[in-house]
Amino acid sequence: MHDLDKYHTGYFDYLEQPENATRYTPAIDQLRRFHHPAPLRVLDLGCGAAVLAHYLDEDDTYTGVDHDPIGLARAHHRKLRPAVRFHQDDTVRFLDEQINHSNTWNVVVVAGVLFHNIDTRTGNHHDDLAFLARCLDVLEPTGHLSIIAPFAYTDDERSDWFVQARWKHSTIAPLLDGLGEAHLVAEITSRQLGLERRLAAQTTPPDWFVSDAATAPTSPYHGHYLATLTLIVELTQR
Ligand SMILES: C[S@@+](CC[C@H](N)C(=O)[O-])C[C@H]1O[C@@H](n2cnc3c(N)ncnc32)[C@H](O)[C@@H]1O
Repeated sequence: MHDLDKYHTGYFDYLEQPENATRYTPAIDQLRRFHHPAPLRVLDLGCGAAVLAHYLDEDDTYTGVDHDPIGLARAHHRKLRPAVRFHQDDTVRFLDEQINHSNTWNVVVVAGVLFHNIDTRTGNHHDDLAFLARCLDVLEPTGHLSIIAPFAYTDDERSDWFVQARWKHSTIAPLLDGLGEAHLVAEITSRQLGLERRLAAQTTPPDWFVSDAATAPTSPYHGHYLATLTLIVELTQR
């Protein structure tokens, strides 16, 4: 399915289900510890419907960027407590502009965007390493970049939770090594328990959702359950 069809077909409905909150809550908990008592000033790249903003406090601020007008329209309808700003823009174009203006945040979040960061002008994926390097360029010296990456798993031993978590880690770790100027300070896996009931009821279930857990996965991306790997990175030169 084309990426810009995923909100209006219901494909992305699961992102807004309460069972999926654990893709954000461990990151927010850790980031609060790192930044306490300063409020979080969050830049959420590929924010979609801005679900993350639900987990912020009144003192925090939130800037969401997404190229999808339907995802952003949903975000606008949310009753959000922190001060929020939204930009309908491409992640990389937005970052380049912020770098030119020397704008910075103390938290940059990239949730479900790595490997899916598409430039709609060309139809091609942005280069993930160059994208992450730009994310570091808009971090305050003591700021943190949170990379939140979902992965599917099944009961099958070839793609159970630990196997898939390790596989997900191994797809992201080389990118972090390539960044050089930043290092990992926290890594968390969390499971979205009970989400599969919601997924089965969606009008358009996501294509990674294998409805029968007993079915051997046909691709390493497929699974019946959802989990998330959260990586928190800080700048080495502070
Ligand atoms: C899997 S969704 C995750 C949404 C949100 N971060 C969440 O976890 O609820 C990926 C999001 O990235 C957005 N996206 C992908 N490539 C983008 C780009 N180059 N510029 C802006 N948004 C992009 C999509 O429109 C979509 O909303």
